[in-house]
Amino acid sequence: MSSPSNTDSPKPSPELMQELVALCKRRGFIFQSSEIYGGINGFFDFGPLGAELKKNIKDAWWQDMVHRREDIVGLDSAIVQHPKVWKSSGHLDGFSDPMVDCKASKLRYRADQLYYSAVTVEGETVGYVSVLEDATMQDQAQKAAQKLVKKSGKSGTGTINLKKYTEANAEEYALIPSPATGEAGSLTPPREFNLMFKTQVGAMSDASGDAYLRPETAQGIFINFKNVTDSSRVKLPFGIAQIGKAFRNEITPRNYIFRSREFEQMEMEYFIPPGEDVWPSYHKEWIEWCRNWLISIGLRKDLIGEEVHGKNDLAHYSKACTDLTFHFPFGEQELWGIAVRGNFDLTQHQGGSGKSLEYFDEAVKEKYLPHVIEPAVGVDRIFLATLVSAYAEDEIGGEKRNLLKFHPRLAPYKVAVFPLVKNKEEIVAKSREIFDHLSKRYHCFYDAAGAVGRRYRRMDEIGTPYCITVDFDTIEKDQKVTLRDRDSATQERLSLDELYKKLEDKLLF
Ligand code: GAP
Repeated sequence: MSSPSNTDSPKPSPELMQELVALCKRRGFIFQSSEIYGGINGFFDFGPLGAELKKNIKDAWWQDMVHRREDIVGLDSAIVQHPKVWKSSGHLDGFSDPMVDCKASKLRYRADQLYYSAVTVEGETVGYVSVLEDATMQDQAQKAAQKLVKKSGKSGTGTINLKKYTEANAEEYALIPSPATGEAGSLTPPREFNLMFKTQVGAMSDASGDAYLRPETAQGIFINFKNVTDSSRVKLPFGIAQIGKAFRNEITPRNYIFRSREFEQMEMEYFIPPGEDVWPSYHKEWIEWCRNWLISIGLRKDLIGEEVHGKNDLAHYSKACTDLTFHFPFGEQELWGIAVRGNFDLTQHQGGSGKSLEYFDEAVKEKYLPHVIEPAVGVDRIFLATLVSAYAEDEIGGEKRNLLKFHPRLAPYKVAVFPLVKNKEEIVAKSREIFDHLSKRYHCFYDAAGAVGRRYRRMDEIGTPYCITVDFDTIEKDQKVTLRDRDSATQERLSLDELYKKLEDKLLF
C-alpha cells in the first residue's frame, strides 16, 4: 500500500482546527446541523464534498475489509433492535459516563473530562482551580492558579496537581469552581448518565414500547452470528463487517466531528477459536492491518500513535485493547480501537435469548462459542484525520496557495476538465467529450468559468488530484491536452490514449 501523505509537515496546531472548520463550511464539506434554526449541538450535516469524502472512506474500507478478503462478509443490521439486546450486551446497565451539573449555569460536564486542583503556596492552600480537558489545560490551570495566588496577597508560584473531578471527595465538591462561572459551590457530585438515546416503537406510549437507537453497530453483528453462519459458507476464523450510524447522547460533544451524538462506525467482528494462546497473534495482526490501512488512504504516518489500555482501563467486555491514536489539532486522541472481546457478547446473547449461538468446528469436531477481535473505528474521526493530514500551504510562482493533498482514492473529485475558453466550439466539444468519457469511471468536475490559474486553485483547495485543460493546440495542432498534477503543480502534454492510461494507473485502486 502506498501513500502520498504529507509527512514533512509540522504537528497540527490548535489554529489548524479553526482553519479546517472555516474551509469545511466555505467549500461545502461540513455544516452545523439545523443551522438555520440556530444549530443543534453534537450533530453535523455533510455537504456535497463532505458526502463524497465520507462515501469514499467507507467504500475504501468496505472494498479492503470485505471485497478483497475471502474470510470476511458484510452485514447491514437495523438501528433499532429488541430492547433485550441492550440488556444482554450490558449497555442498559453500564453504558454511561460520569456527569456533573453546574446548578448556577445549568451546564453539564463529563466529570472525567473536568480537571481540578488545589493551589498551594509554601504548603498553604489558597483556593481551587478547574479546567476542561484539552491540550492546553495545564497552562490554563497554571494561569488561573497565579491569579488566585495574587488575590491571596502571597508571592511565589502556586503549585498545582491536576486530577479528574471523579477523584474529588465530598468536601472538595463545594470548593471547586465551576468552569462556567468561576465560582465554587455550584457543582454537583458526579453521577452516572446513560448515553443511549431512548425512543418509542409502536402506538403504545407506556414502557412496553421503549427502544433505543444503537450506540454501536457491533451488537447487530453478534445477534446475527447464527443467521450468518447458517446462511453463508463461513468457517472460523472469519469476520462480519458492518458500516452504519451509531448514536450516543454524549454529555459534552466536542472538538467538531470528533465526538458527536450521531456518527458512523465501521466495525468488524473477527471470530476465532477460544484459548488464551490463540487471540494474541490475531490481535497483533489486526492492529498492523488497521495501521497500514490508515497510511494507505493518506493519513500522516507521523501522527499515528498507539495506546495499550491498562487492565483498569478496559471496557466491561474487553480482555485487552489497543487504540490507534491520531495527533489531532486538539491533542492525541483515540482513532481506532482494536479490542479483544473474548466470547462475552455471544455468551450474553445466548443467555439472554435462550438460543444456542455455538459454532460447530469441523476441524476439531467440537462445539463452542467463538472469541472475537474487534477493530472498531468512527468514519467521522477518519474524516477529520484525513483533513488534518491533507491540509497544506505552499507557494506557486510567488503566490500562496492552500491545498488538500487528499489521497486520490478519497478525493471528492478525481479529475477536473477545463476548456481554456468557453466561446470556442471545438474546444468546448472536446472538453465535453473527455468529461463524458472520464465521468463514466471517476467523479469529475467540469469548469469553464474564469482564468485557468484560478480554476486550478479552486480544485487545489478541495483536493482534486488532476486537472485537464483543452486549449487551442489541442484542436489546431497536436490533439494533446495538458494534465496538471495538484501536489507538484507540474504539467505535461498527453494524447488522449496516454491520458486515459495514466489516469487508470493513478486512480484505480
Ligand atoms: N463496538 C465497540 C465500540 O463501539 P468505541 O471505542 O466506543 O467502541 C469505536 O467506539 C469507535 O467509534 C471509536 O474508536 C471512535 O472512532 C468512534 N466513536 C465513538 N464514539 C464516538 C463519538 N461520540 N463521535 C464520533 N466517533 C465516535
